[in-house]
Amino acid sequence: MAFYEREIDVMIDVAALQRKVRELGAQITRDYAGRELTLVGVLKGSIFFLTDLAQAIDLPVRIELMGVSSYLGGNETTGEVRITHDVSTPMGGRHLLLVEDIVDTGLTMQFLLDNLSARQPASLKVCVLLEKPSRTKCKVTIDYKGFTIEDRFVVGYGLDYSEKYRNLPFVGLMKTGE
Ligand code: IMP
Ligand code: MG
Repeated sequence: MAFYEREIDVMIDVAALQRKVRELGAQITRDYAGRELTLVGVLKGSIFFLTDLAQAIDLPVRIELMGVSSYLGGNETTGEVRITHDVSTPMGGRHLLLVEDIVDTGLTMQFLLDNLSARQPASLKVCVLLEKPSRTKCKVTIDYKGFTIEDRFVVGYGLDYSEKYRNLPFVGLMKTGE
């Protein structure tokens, strides 16, 4: 039995994730045809999604990473965000696609959009794997979305609980009450 099977139930399996990533990649390929695209992944949660998505896009793609963290830890997002890792090349004039694991309250995404748009990119859009619309405090436009989920804490495929479970190849739910 795999180590996580006692603790996690599968919510979105490997096949469904891969199918969705291919769909998103095909759509992005069509939408950005003839342009150079820069994917800006948000550390650490987006890295599995980012690498799969990048390989599903049939265009010249640059990859940049930003790290952000809320001032207080835990499951709840507090509203205050700071940059812990910045991109390594200038963003001005580039077509940027921000790639994030999940939009929960939307505060992290809003912070990143404000920050990146101040650098005057040619365009700035958003691709997220998961959205929890019931929790949204800050409405951000999501241009490319994988799945809409209910308000449950999920892990895997990059998403963590106290830095654990990121390496699960699927998105799962933490079992509760045991
Ligand atoms: P937001 O600022 O509330 O939209 O959420 C920002 C961050 O909270 C996400 O990028 C995730 O890192 C984390 N987060 C929100 N919901 C979950 C979840 O269900 N599982 C794991 N991380 C989550
Ligand atoms: Mg994150």
